[in-house]
Amino acid sequence: MSSSVSAFQPLTSQAITMALCTKTLGRSLHLLQDTPSTNSTAMSLAQNGAPDGTVVVADTQTSGRGRLGRQWYSPPGKNLYCSIILKRAMPPDQVSGWLSWVPLLAAVAVARAIQTLSGLRPSLKWPNDILIAQRKVGGLLCESSGMATANGVVIVGIGLNVNMWRDAFPADLHDLATSLSAEAGRPFDRAVLLAALLSELELRYEAFLSGIADIKQEYGLRCTTIGQRVRVEMSNGDRGNCIEGQAVSIGDDGSLQIMLDDPQDRFTCVTPIAIRAGDVVHLRRKGSD
Ligand code: BTN
Repeated sequence: MSSSVSAFQPLTSQAITMALCTKTLGRSLHLLQDTPSTNSTAMSLAQNGAPDGTVVVADTQTSGRGRLGRQWYSPPGKNLYCSIILKRAMPPDQVSGWLSWVPLLAAVAVARAIQTLSGLRPSLKWPNDILIAQRKVGGLLCESSGMATANGVVIVGIGLNVNMWRDAFPADLHDLATSLSAEAGRPFDRAVLLAALLSELELRYEAFLSGIADIKQEYGLRCTTIGQRVRVEMSNGDRGNCIEGQAVSIGDDGSLQIMLDDPQDRFTCVTPIAIRAGDVVHLRRKGSD
């Protein structure tokens, strides 16, 4: 069935399963009409025995959650809201690297799936905003529990604006958000999109288990934060709540490496600092000066 025929049809388990090419991800599937948050539903399913690779997808969320306590706009019938349960055991010394890289490798997977299906080339704003033409088309919210135990769970939550026209976004998102249909000028089949992004995620996840080199390179090529002057608003940290500087690279731990504009000591003059969490604002476009 062509994507234009089925794009506005309801999401069905049958359509998702028919499109699925993965070994594990999505083989156990919970499709809900509505739920407060697919991440919350997935976490509770995971803690009650749902297997690795289980996917929760909803047509709408009544309390969709974004990073840093924000809401995620989740109207019915248009977009993709899904959460993937990852449960594979990690050696304790790899847990922290794993937690830092999961959101980044998932962002790469989403960008690749979009590119394959639309021909558009999404970029990434560190850590895991998915942008097209400088506007946000999707985001990721990764949450974990019990990582110090043998029953560690990571939930990868993905929100993608798919078949929204730009004027349908609430006023505060008008200038910031976009959707695949708005950028490509045609609707997309959400079942095909979900299947494609699960395939990409499975591939990137397997590659990551044998080392970070490939994913670090791929992330770096898509990340438009690198090379920008940035302001980072941090929820904690001993430098105050806000720093400004030049984003220079991604560290081996997935952190954003920043050369401070106003270093507070000689050491930071020559050494970038590593940011592991925070809200990044691009202050000036690459190549604009
Ligand atoms: C962000 O960019 O702030 C992250 C947005 C993540 C939204 C998705 S939608 C599916 C999953 N369930 C949620 O409640 N949030 C994530």
